[in-house]
Amino acid sequence: MRRYDQISIEEKIALLVGVGVPKKVPGTAGETREISGIPSIELSDGPSGLRVEPYAERVYLSTAFPSPIMLASTWDPEIVEEVGRAIGEEARENGIDILLGPGLNIHRHPLCGRNFEYFSEDPLLSGVMASAYVKGVQSAGVGATPKHFVANEQETNRYFIDTIVSERALREIYLKPFEIVVKKASPWAIMSSYNKLNGRYTSQDPWLLIDVLRKEWGFEGIVMTDWGAGDDPVEQINSGIDLIMPGDDKIYEKLVSAYREGRLKPERVEESFNRLLKIFEKTLSFRGYKPSYRPDLEKNAEIAYKAGLEGAVLLKNIGETLPLKTGSQVAVFGVGQIATLKSGMGSGHNHSRYTINIVEGLRKAGFKIDEELFERYHKYVVENYGLDNLEKLYKDEIYPKKLNEDFIEEDFIKRTAERNDVALIVITRISGEAWDRSVAGGDFYLSLDEKKLIEKVSKAFRSVGKKVVAILNIAGPIEIYSWRDLVDAILLIWLPGQEAGRIVADLLIGKVSPSGKLPITFPKSWTDVPVSISSECYPGTPPENPVKVRYCEDIYVGYRYYDTFGVEPAYEFGYGLSYTSFEYSGLEINIDKDNIILNIKIRNIGRYPGREVVQVYIKAPGEEIDRPEQELKAFKKTKMLRPGEEEEIKIEISIKDLATYHPEKKRWIVERGWHEIRIGSSSRDIRLTGKIYIPEEIVF
Ligand code: BGC
Repeated sequence: MRRYDQISIEEKIALLVGVGVPKKVPGTAGETREISGIPSIELSDGPSGLRVEPYAERVYLSTAFPSPIMLASTWDPEIVEEVGRAIGEEARENGIDILLGPGLNIHRHPLCGRNFEYFSEDPLLSGVMASAYVKGVQSAGVGATPKHFVANEQETNRYFIDTIVSERALREIYLKPFEIVVKKASPWAIMSSYNKLNGRYTSQDPWLLIDVLRKEWGFEGIVMTDWGAGDDPVEQINSGIDLIMPGDDKIYEKLVSAYREGRLKPERVEESFNRLLKIFEKTLSFRGYKPSYRPDLEKNAEIAYKAGLEGAVLLKNIGETLPLKTGSQVAVFGVGQIATLKSGMGSGHNHSRYTINIVEGLRKAGFKIDEELFERYHKYVVENYGLDNLEKLYKDEIYPKKLNEDFIEEDFIKRTAERNDVALIVITRISGEAWDRSVAGGDFYLSLDEKKLIEKVSKAFRSVGKKVVAILNIAGPIEIYSWRDLVDAILLIWLPGQEAGRIVADLLIGKVSPSGKLPITFPKSWTDVPVSISSECYPGTPPENPVKVRYCEDIYVGYRYYDTFGVEPAYEFGYGLSYTSFEYSGLEINIDKDNIILNIKIRNIGRYPGREVVQVYIKAPGEEIDRPEQELKAFKKTKMLRPGEEEEIKIEISIKDLATYHPEKKRWIVERGWHEIRIGSSSRDIRLTGKIYIPEEIVF
């Protein structure tokens, strides 16, 4: 054990404030100060892969994995843990001690600019995925940092917006995923958010940082601020922050003067110093680890590919349009075939060695591409982005500005319909940090030119008996309902990381059957989204420059709203098709002490191998307090089942997990009475039901 009794209070304060601009590793987000034998610790983004600058002569040392929204669509904690471990290993071999991820805010509505960095509209799915991710990262010896704690569901005015949320909604929806990850995965760190929560900056809120996080949940790691969050560093430390990031000398000096004037609590400095030390002692820098700068990028590319295959969601597939035959002749439309989006923008983006665009992936898988059509797109993209070669599009982070998609003449499209087997249309949507998406055409809705392209292609191909497949390379939900009849199949690939084209091609060809399910509802229209009711609820008031946003829908977020209030979505939470189909049978329900034990049989009754995501929803009695129509309480993905093969699934649910937060009693309660258990392939495709009786109300 080293001894730190000689360290002065000024030095202790210095450890609590980052250095500002990091010096050790290019492209990282932050660094702590080196003091008296405690080395500086390196912190770097982010959720879809390690964000470091290309090393030395432009050697790229990290992998772009599928974005967390796609990782959640896998509903497979095992693959998410593998991704986490791979990111952790890349961090380790690049000299990074603590990774700034995963993002753990809730998809409150489709427009949040950072939804792609977050997992789901459901707190359980979010919490389970985050736990797997954190375990993976930390198994590589690197700390993980779930962020942004808490209620940071929009980017509009994120630095100061005051988020007004009821305690019940906070605890059941927004705090819940953090509670799960703290209890299941013990992250080394948590990052507080930029926004205010019910009047206080989250980074200056002792109720949140001390009472809830430490005292109630027993969190033992460190809490850092988001970069430049809040308005009072002294209050931050006094309220439970351990590390102010990115920090600078001015903040350090402010803290030292506050200490001398008696405004900075000495016991808080001691406590944070000790906590930082405890975590820092575990870090690679502290242990003198020498990074190799040679992470196993080949192995990790395969993990990114595998996770992408699992996370793609098949939304539509009429008349077995998919899978396509090997060697099919395809006409590919849409700028995104070349300018394929691997990830979103901001700290959630990283620099990978390459991105396999959709056309490249199709070619490698043996598809025959309509070259004349491809040439038109190639020329168009190169001219409009002002590039001499396409490499620049990916390596220099040129982010595809939206181009007019309706530039191919109708006659040309007709000719392509005659000479190809099928049409693919790629639709893209980017989003990123610091701004939210918009409802307008070209974002939530299709733009006029996109609509025209789909209409023309659909007409031309269908008139000669050929099919049209849409590929959605998007950062968050878009409106699909009004145009989905124009296409025969829709494959959602989100922002799938560097292996994009391979993932698309292998799914289209049926090398693997899609098995992803939606972690967020796709509403029929923007006006169906509960937050659309008034600007007070989103993006806040005054609408031109909001300072306050009220979470009006309370606990009724996502499917909890659509199901309870009878609003039919375009595609519901948990939805996703497969090339094969599954039969559910043999439900057995048993209670063993504090747990509900479910046994279910799942059989592949189709013609392709495939995996199914079994989802368990519970409808509570709702007599003592209003409850949502149903809530996800557990899920399990089957192994790969061959046609005819059956798997027995066992699922355990703690009875405590049926609880709701009672705002008057200020306690969690499990209601007395019948709780209905619904087991389904999606939230609206329930295959088996049963019930359990809780004889006495349980309060905790
Ligand atoms: C983002 C964080 C990120 C940090 C460091 C902030 O602007 O909100 O998610 O980790 O920057 O890059």
